[in-house]
Amino acid sequence: MSIERVFVAGGGLMGGGIAYAVSVVAEKNVTVYDINEEVLARSQAAHSKLLNKLVEKGKLSAEQVEAANQRLNWTTDLEQASKAQLVIEAIPEKLALKQEFFSRLDQICPPETIFASNTSSLPITSLASVTKRGDRFIGMHFFSPVHLMKLLELIRGLETSEATYETVKAFGVALGKEVITANDFPGFITTRLGMVLLNEAMFALMEGVGTAEDIDLGMKLGFNHPMGPLALADAVGLDVCLSAMTTMQEGFGDQRYRPCPLLKRLVQAGHLGKKTGRGFYTYA
Ligand SMILES: NC(=O)c1ccc[n+]([C@@H]2O[C@H](COP(=O)([O-])OP(=O)(O)OC[C@H]3O[C@@H](n4cnc5c(N)ncnc54)[C@H](O)[C@@H]3O)[C@@H](O)[C@H]2O)c1
Repeated sequence: MSIERVFVAGGGLMGGGIAYAVSVVAEKNVTVYDINEEVLARSQAAHSKLLNKLVEKGKLSAEQVEAANQRLNWTTDLEQASKAQLVIEAIPEKLALKQEFFSRLDQICPPETIFASNTSSLPITSLASVTKRGDRFIGMHFFSPVHLMKLLELIRGLETSEATYETVKAFGVALGKEVITANDFPGFITTRLGMVLLNEAMFALMEGVGTAEDIDLGMKLGFNHPMGPLALADAVGLDVCLSAMTTMQEGFGDQRYRPCPLLKRLVQAGHLGKKTGRGFYTYA
């Protein structure tokens, strides 16, 4: 099956980026849904700004922008999902919220519609379990900012069919992404490896092995990482890091994934990184 009509649920940072990839790169129709009209207006404005920038740089023509805008719709009406062949969910990272969403969606969409979640750490199999389409359910883990990041991590749930996997993989390539595939274990490939590094950097800081600046510079210059792990944790959000570590610790039942106490303390204090102006660093 070739995917022509996509419904993106959650029009925030990730949903907006995914809508860009679908409408501009893959040149397919996409409807972006959010419960919050202000978020939709903000995403729409950010989308227009990005397209204008790409036109200025000569990367897109005015005709391409016009055509992409024709393919893109914004809505607060979930019923519109009934027309989609693929729904990509990008609502907040809360298991109960996502399960409630998919359970409702399952009533609205025809049986052949494929459901995908952009979760970075929640079990795909648990999300699929609230629907009657475990075979047509998959993880599509995009990276931020979606228009710049080449990677797409697909996650096969316990019941994901080969046909679903192949259809979504082909669509991922049409989105201009390099696709990697993970099975449904806590943290998949990228969140598991990435978060363990960030968490270990936090332990190194807490134990006084080095300053935040030296830990970050060590990884940048010694391992060619574009960003140090503590600066990256601040950018990702310390609440997001804590929730990913907790999911892995509970999922594996292994102390290897215990969240660093310093991370817990910063989250308790409301210092969530860049978005609150303070984390391992302070931001103006
Ligand atoms: N931010 C990242 O770097 C990143 C990277 C990969 C994956 N993810 C995952 O993507 C998902 C979304 O993250 P984000 O950073 O875009 O969050 P975000 O807060 O920017 O966007 C989430 C949006 O969902 C909307 N929403 C809330 N409840 C809803 C509902 N019931 N129905 C429809 N919309 C609803 C909110 O209004 C908000 O606009 C999460 O699962 C997150 O773990 C995030």
